[in-house]
Parts: sequence; structure tokens; C-alpha cells
Amino acid sequence: MLVTGSDILVPARAGKYGVASFNTNNMEITQAIIHTAERLRSPVMVQMSEGAIKYGGQDLANIVKDLASRASVPVALHLDHGSSYASALNAIKMGFTSVMIDASHHQFDENMAETKKVVEAAHAMGITVEAELGRLGGIEEHIVVDEKDAFLTDPEEAVRFVEGTGVDYLAIAIGTSHGAYKGKGRPFIDQERIQKIGGLLGIPLVAHGSSGVPAEIVQRFRDAGGEIGEAAGIADEDLELACQHGIAKVNVDTDLRLASTVGIREALKANPKEFDPRKIFGAARDVMSQVIEHKLRVLGSVGKA
Ligand code: G3H
Ligand code: 13P
Ligand code: NA
Ligand code: ZN
Repeated sequence: MLVTGSDILVPARAGKYGVASFNTNNMEITQAIIHTAERLRSPVMVQMSEGAIKYGGQDLANIVKDLASRASVPVALHLDHGSSYASALNAIKMGFTSVMIDASHHQFDENMAETKKVVEAAHAMGITVEAELGRLGGIEEHIVVDEKDAFLTDPEEAVRFVEGTGVDYLAIAIGTSHGAYKGKGRPFIDQERIQKIGGLLGIPLVAHGSSGVPAEIVQRFRDAGGEIGEAAGIADEDLELACQHGIAKVNVDTDLRLASTVGIREALKANPKEFDPRKIFGAARDVMSQVIEHKLRVLGSVGKA
């Protein structure tokens, strides 16, 4: 069933497990996400960025809504990184059940004001809202607190922000970053900060940039002819621990981008004569399903729906 973000995330926060929010850009990605969640009895979120809306528009939103409505598990359709009030409102008009307003690059007061405006409009229509406080980016384990505080989310500010805006779930900066290059080896995640913010705030917390960039997938990407540098993602153990302390929504895009490309490259390499798109995109869907299953197991959402 198609539900709001809070319908999925509030129980996750209370139950100390994480719900993956995967980015989609086409039918095969959407099927892999929702069908795998159904198979594993897991709630899940499907998110479209503004770029995804530009690419797939209402056609793609309708595919997600249709699969979600017919699904035997709770699914939310979420706007990822909405850049303005107008963008959030447009997504709600398109049938999204959850929206993010990302004004985190603005000053605190402006971020508050913009977020509050979206919260008021969205709540009037029964839609729940994510906002972000802090700057995403990799950090070193041993840098001084002052330097961390320059861009990681400040716990006291987070409390003021949530009280002032009424936002339903909050994305925090804790050392994760977007993309396939999150730092060397195992990127440092500020678990102490998560614990502190989770102790002060009862609402679900959100981790962006949470792809694992699994070494096995990176190797298959290379073996099938792909070129990729020193890729690294967030360790499974770090996500597990983060979900114990308040992270309830875990954003993943890069892992499915890599998995789909691995599927396509391997299919074409194994059979250069192939030109049936179902064989090619179907292979992408299969590899994505495996990566999705792994993520749902790590986050502990399997069997929760
Ligand atoms: O955080 C950004 C997501 O990975 C979406 O990326 O804007 O290229 O669709 P995109
Ligand atoms: P990754 O690049 O780690 O997949 O993060 C995706 C994300 O945060 C989308 O909002
Ligand atoms: Na988001
Ligand atoms: Zn993000």
C-alpha cells in the first residue's frame, strides 16, 4: 500500500531498525525495489530526485504509485532533495506521499523559514516532510571537534530546528557523503553525534549518502569493462549501529546505479549478439534485487511488514 513517510519511519525509529529509501529513475529500478521488499516482507521508500522528475516525470511517478498501491507492504513515494517550496508542492500535486525540502546550504534561519513553509503546506494535505541540517561530507576520525562542528549537525541546533519547523524527519550530517567515493577504506561515521542527537530528538533521523559501494560489485564492474577509481562506501556495521541510535531512513542511490550497470555490462559481455532489451535490462534488475536484499537485511527491516 501507498503510505506516507511517517507511516513507515515512526515505527522504524521506535523499533530501532532502518528503512531504505532507494532512488528510482525507471520501471526496472522501481520493480526491483518494490518486489524485493514484498518478497522479504519489508517496508520501503522509493524516492525521485528533481533530476528523476525531469527524466521520467508523471509517467515514472505513476509507475511507482501503481506498484506501491498494489504492493503487499507499505511503500512511500518521496521527493529527494527538493530545492524549493514550489518543487515540494509540485511533487505533492504529482502524488508523492513524502517530500524533502533541502535548504541546508542556506543560513540556519533561512533553512528554518523555508522548511516551516513546506511543512505547513504539506501537513495541510496529509503529506509528511524531511528537512536537512548540516553539510554532508567525509570527515577524519581524529580531527578536532571545532572542525567537525563546522559542518556536521550540531545537536542543540537540531532541537531548535525541529521545534521551530515541526518537520517530521531530519537528515543529519554525520560523515556520510553522496557518490561512489566516500573516502579511503572505511569512512568515519560520527556515531557519538548520532547517539547525542537521537537522545535529544524522538523523530526519525535520516542518513543520506549511505550506499555501501560493495567491493564485490566494484570488482564485477571492473571485470565487465567498467572504469572506476578508489571507490568506498559506508560499512554495513556502521549503518546497523546508526539505526540503533535514531537513524530510521537510509538513502541509497549509488549502489543501484552500480548494480544496474554491472548487470548490463555482464549481459552484453557474455553475449555480444544480444539485443533483446528484456535480457539486458532484466539482468540489471536481477543484480539490483540482490543488492537491495542485502541492504534490507543489514538495516533490519526484513519481516517488519
Ligand atoms: O543525492 C542525490 C541522488 O543520488 C540523486 O541524484 O540528482 O542525479 O538524480 P540525481
Ligand atoms: P549514495 O550516493 O550514497 O547512494 O546516496 C544517495 C542519497 O543520499 C540520495 O539522497
Ligand atoms: Na531525501
Ligand atoms: Zn541525498
